[in-house]
Amino acid sequence: MKRTEFIRSLGLSSGALMAVYCMGTLTSCTKEDTPLPITNINPPSTNPSTGKVDFTLDLTLTANKELTTSGGFLYNQDIIVARVKSGSFIALSKICTHQGTTVVYQKDTDDIYCPNHGSMYDITGKVTQTPAPAPLKMYQTSFNMTTMQLRVFEA
Ligand code: FES
Repeated sequence: MKRTEFIRSLGLSSGALMAVYCMGTLTSCTKEDTPLPITNINPPSTNPSTGKVDFTLDLTLTANKELTTSGGFLYNQDIIVARVKSGSFIALSKICTHQGTTVVYQKDTDDIYCPNHGSMYDITGKVTQTPAPAPLKMYQTSFNMTTMQLRVFEA
């Protein structure tokens, strides 16, 4: 039984039905009970059919504006995506390999820094300062300048 059918079986009017439905989902409703797409949230970072990281960021969205200029960075789930000094994009695991703290991109030195114990990585994820015992996993990026879509994926 669909949710709307269940609610109707409770004897609610159509107006009450829509109010209950909308309060329950916190999304806009359409006549067909199809929630409108949420356009300001980035997609899940993993392709469900392959299990590999594969997502696209729309750089025309306010949520991704950090990537429109060199030195900006953001996180999409467990990945840090940065536009480095050269203007190109990088994508790395955001999880420090020492004890799991979230790393940050440093614009001035063009590297990745862990604020917990001071580990540093270059923009390929290679450790340049310990105690991090291993590099950050690196992902591929592909940018379509016409559509402003940045794809991050696992080879
Ligand atoms: S958790 Fe990053 S250096 Fe320790």
